Amino acid sequence: MGNSKIVLITGGNKGIGFETARQLGHLGFTILLGSRDETKGKEAMAALKTENINAKVITLDVTDLDTIQSAVKQIDDQYGSLDVLINNAGLSLDGGVPPSQLELVNLRMTYETNVFGMFSVTKAMLPLIKKSPAGRIVNLSSGLASLTLNSDPESEFYGLNLLAYMSSKTAINALTVLFAKELRDTSIKINSADPGFTSTDLNGHRGYRSVEQGASIVVKLATLANDGPTGGFFDENGVVPW
Ligand SMILES: NC(=O)c1ccc[n+]([C@@H]2O[C@H](COP(=O)([O-])OP(=O)(O)OC[C@H]3O[C@@H](n4cnc5c(N)ncnc54)[C@H](OP(=O)(O)O)[C@@H]3O)[C@@H](O)[C@H]2O)c1
Repeated sequence: MGNSKIVLITGGNKGIGFETARQLGHLGFTILLGSRDETKGKEAMAALKTENINAKVITLDVTDLDTIQSAVKQIDDQYGSLDVLINNAGLSLDGGVPPSQLELVNLRMTYETNVFGMFSVTKAMLPLIKKSPAGRIVNLSSGLASLTLNSDPESEFYGLNLLAYMSSKTAINALTVLFAKELRDTSIKINSADPGFTSTDLNGHRGYRSVEQGASIVVKLATLANDGPTGGFFDENGVVPW
């Protein structure tokens, strides 16, 4: 496994992140399973090992700069570079209320994880990703991020109006575009992924897609060829409108 590519997945202990780890593990990647809870991370790692996947847990809370810096040091000491970063950790705290009823604290806490956490991890890991010959960054966005779809009464999710979660994912798309602009003269590709409405704890398992289906676009963007896109927004069918 000495030559295998190294991938860090935030929030890799369950849901789409865990399934992404499983799929990339079967492609021969060395999996660094980010988990804010060490016990949950170890349980997930043990499950991957039963499938002969090379996995290691890294304790990483995306809202805690100390754990981010410690993750950078561990990866630097052990591997010296990072090939793929999957910014998967995310949460939804809207509680189903319309925008005018949303508590500021819930908006703030959503942004702490979904936006500021993603920013902090990306910023901290970039020096290691630049040392990879073909770095890839995948940001877990959502079709609910799309301002085009949110403004379209014909859209499948027009009835949803979860300001904290949806606008945090729109902000993530902006981060994708702006980091891609900065990195356009490097070999790094950074894209937003829309996994579709996937059955996980995030939505009380109301999603109608399996985690296998949800993770497939994430894996595709993590393994893009050198002539692949950067600064884009994709689901399994292709480009998603901003
Ligand atoms: N499911 C969908 O339909 C859907 C659709 C579009 C986009 N997405 C996105 O896909 C990503 C994965 O979601 P999921 O559906 O797989 O949900 P999930 O099963 O609830 O998993 C979320 C993961 O994020 C972790 N996490 C939350 N806050 C964190 C923090 N501060 N630091 C580190 N990890 C943290 C969770 O850790 P704990 O186990 O410790 O809570 C968990 O591992 C999210 O970004 C979500 O917004 C999901």
